[in-house]
Amino acid sequence: MRRFVRVLGEDLEAARRRDPAARSRLEVALAYPGVHAVWAYRLAHRMWREPLLRLPARLVSQVARALTGVEIHPGARIGRRLFIDHGMGVVVGETAVVGDDVVLFHTSTLGGRSMKRGKRHPTLGDRVVVGAGAKILGPVWVGDDVQVGANAVVVKDVPAGAVAVGVPARIRMPATTPAARDAVEDPSLLIEYVI
Ligand SMILES: CC(C)(COP(=O)(O)OP(=O)(O)OC[C@H]1O[C@@H](n2cnc3c(N)ncnc32)[C@H](O)[C@@H]1OP(=O)(O)O)[C@@H](O)C(=O)NCCC(=O)NCCS
Repeated sequence: MRRFVRVLGEDLEAARRRDPAARSRLEVALAYPGVHAVWAYRLAHRMWREPLLRLPARLVSQVARALTGVEIHPGARIGRRLFIDHGMGVVVGETAVVGDDVVLFHTSTLGGRSMKRGKRHPTLGDRVVVGAGAKILGPVWVGDDVQVGANAVVVKDVPAGAVAVGVPARIRMPATTPAARDAVEDPSLLIEYVI
């Protein structure tokens, strides 16, 4: 229980740290629907792990959706310090996996492309930022430190450190990432990444 409360406190602090508009932890605790949605998810996910509590878990998730505009399936696996900025319109599917210190802006979607059961939603590494309106669709892998541009549609894997923009998303490696530095040693890598 103490660990659970600590994780909720980290979510609060992550929002305060990442949003320049946030003035205090109290303000974040009271006025940030993205934080409320993450807290509700953490409760629902705990319930989801008990097979008999799966229906109540879905109900918690739906009440949170009605209150915050954020729908996170309780079966999704989400790391620590997720920050959902502005909340409204975010969807995270059942088999999505999200690393630590990730930011999701409003109306972003971690969705599926298939109606089949099984892994059908994306896996995000640590410190990924998903811009407003971006969609990441299917069981794709998005590496650590990736930035997905606003309104991008990602349907293929994105290497760590890359920036993905456009529809469908094009991959760009910023010159400062280790992968881009490797590419300078091996120009064939650069040709693959830079559009
Ligand atoms: C994608 C993003 C991370 C790129 O940031 P960056 O690395 O600083 O990149 P730059 O601004 O230097 O832009 C690089 C190129 O991508 C283009 N670009 C940037 N963002 C884009 C987007 N969302 N969609 C399409 N193209 C985009 C730029 O026009 C530029 O093109 P050019 O090389 O032809 O001139 C950023 O633009 C973005 O979309 N962040 C999401 C922020 C967000 O959702 N904020 C919501 C706040 S409420």
